[in-house]
Amino acid sequence: MSVNVIVCGAAGRMGKILVSLVQEHPEARLVGAIEAAGHPALGKDAGDVTGLGPMGVPVTSDYAALATADTVTLDFTVPEAALSHLRVAVAQQAAIVIGTTGFSAEQRAETETLALRTRSIIAANMSIGVNVLLKVVADVAKILQDGFDPEIFEIHHRFKVDAPSGTALALGRAIASAQGKDFDQQAKLARQGITGQRTNDEIGIVALRGGDVIGDHTVIFAGFAERLELTHRAQSRECLARGAVRAALWLPQQQPGLYTMKDVLGL
Ligand SMILES: NC(=O)c1ccc[n+]([C@@H]2O[C@H](COP(=O)([O-])OP(=O)(O)OC[C@H]3O[C@@H](n4cnc5c(N)ncnc54)[C@H](OP(=O)(O)O)[C@@H]3O)[C@@H](O)[C@H]2O)c1
Repeated sequence: MSVNVIVCGAAGRMGKILVSLVQEHPEARLVGAIEAAGHPALGKDAGDVTGLGPMGVPVTSDYAALATADTVTLDFTVPEAALSHLRVAVAQQAAIVIGTTGFSAEQRAETETLALRTRSIIAANMSIGVNVLLKVVADVAKILQDGFDPEIFEIHHRFKVDAPSGTALALGRAIASAQGKDFDQQAKLARQGITGQRTNDEIGIVALRGGDVIGDHTVIFAGFAERLELTHRAQSRECLARGAVRAALWLPQQQPGLYTMKDVLGL
C-alpha cells in the first residue's frame, strides 16, 4: 500500500528534490504540492515545476483541503508556514515531518507541544549518515572518556551565514551529554592567540567556509600516539531529502506523538 505524501514548499530547493524522490518511490504517492499564496508556481503541475514533466498534481496554497489522516506531509518551508501547517495537521490528524529550521524559542516551544498531538517528526538534519554519526559519536565518547580529546571540524559552502553548523553543535552536545559535561560551558568555538593548554573537558569546534562544499563534519578523538576520526560528507542535498522520505514512509504506522530520526532509524 502506498503512502500519500504532501510536499509543502514544493517549489523550493528541498521541495523539488522531495517531489522527484516521492514520485520515483514505489511505496509513495504524491497527492499534494503546496506553496504560499501568490507564489508563481501556483496552478502549475508539480512535475513541471521540478522539471520531471506532468504528474497530475497541481501546486496549490490550500493545505487544509488536502491534509487528512491518511496523508503524511513533508514540510520544508519557513518557520511561520511550518507552524501553521502543523496546526492544520493536528486539527485534521494528518502525519507531518518537519524539516524546516530557524524557529524562534517561542515557535519551537509551541511546535514541540503541538506536535505531540499528531504523528510527527521534527529534525534539523534528516541525513541518515549524520543521524548515525550522532549515535556513533555518543557511543565512542562514552568509551573514550579518558585520554582522548574530542574536537570537531566542519566545512560548508561560502554562502552559509551561520557558524558553526547546527550539526556540529549537535555533535558537540552529543559528546557532552555522553560524558556528563555541560556543553555550553565546555565548548571552545575556534581558538585564537595565547589560549593556554587544552583542558580535559573542552570540546573544540572549528568551522571552515568555501566554494560549494555541501557539508562535511569530522569528529576527532585525539589520544596519545593515536587518534580516531569519524567523518560524514554530504555529496548533495539529496541525502537530506532521502532521509525525509524514509521518515515519511515510517511515520504513518506510528501512534500519535513526536518522534525523531533516531526512532525512524531504530538507533
Ligand atoms: N531538516 C533537514 O534535513 C533540512 C535540509 C535542508 C533544508 N532544511 C530546511 O528546510 C527549509 C527549506 O529549505 P530550502 O533550502 O528548500 O529553502 P527554499 O528553497 O527557500 O524553499 C522553501 C520553500 O517554501 C516556500 N514557502 C514559504 N512560505 C510558504 C508557505 N506559507 N506555504 C508553503 N510554502 C511556503 C518558499 O516559497 P518562496 O520562494 O515564495 O519563499 C519556498 O518555495 C529551511 O528551513 C531549511 O533550513 C532542512
